[in-house]
Amino acid sequence: MNGEATTGEQRTGSAATDGNAVLRAIRARRVVRALTQAPVEPEHLHTVLNSARYAPHAGNRRLHRYVAVTRPQLLRAIRMVSPGMLPHPAAAIVVCVDWAQVRAYGFPESNPGPYIDVGTATATMLLTAHSLGLGAGPVTSFSRAAVAVLLEAPDGVRPELIVCLGHPSPQQPPPVHRHHQPAWDDLVRWEHF
Ligand SMILES: Cc1cc2nc3c(=O)[nH]c(=O)nc-3n(C[C@H](O)[C@H](O)[C@H](O)COP(=O)(O)O)c2cc1C
Repeated sequence: MNGEATTGEQRTGSAATDGNAVLRAIRARRVVRALTQAPVEPEHLHTVLNSARYAPHAGNRRLHRYVAVTRPQLLRAIRMVSPGMLPHPAAAIVVCVDWAQVRAYGFPESNPGPYIDVGTATATMLLTAHSLGLGAGPVTSFSRAAVAVLLEAPDGVRPELIVCLGHPSPQQPPPVHRHHQPAWDDLVRWEHF
């Protein structure tokens, strides 16, 4: 690099994103941790849930289950066992892996596919929520055992990630500026390390 204080955004150039709604959404999405208590409209919740199945999945197996939670009492109980859940979400989607089915398919325990699929589904749902004007954020800091009990998960099904959903509060904490973060081409190597 030439050492000038340019960001990846600047180096990419705005011409590449102007008029491209998908790229704009990818760049504008942020984790929203300040949410109002207004309920998430069922149609929006369905749209977010539906989007998960458009994410790429390893081997095209559907080894995940998505538990939608909207009951305030259950949301409060989940939050109590989730130290990483900073928002008070109006709804949550608990992404679970059916590990019994993973084993039944003969996938070895070391196969990262099911975890990667949690990520692809989550990223897709976060973008969908953003596109609907909802605030959303992922949480992995929670007790899997406690959430499994709260959700009455069957044996072999384990919650792996929670997507918090709600309407963004008008008052948001100041954004974490991205200009201290590496630019895209600082993270990329061409052809080899
Ligand atoms: C696998 C994963 C786990 C995460 N767990 C938490 C969490 O427990 N609590 C939380 O507040 N944010 C969590 N996050 C959100 C990240 O902190 C956030 O994506 C990161 O700071 C970048 O912010 P941005 O998505 O707004 O760009 C998690 C993100 C990922 C991908």
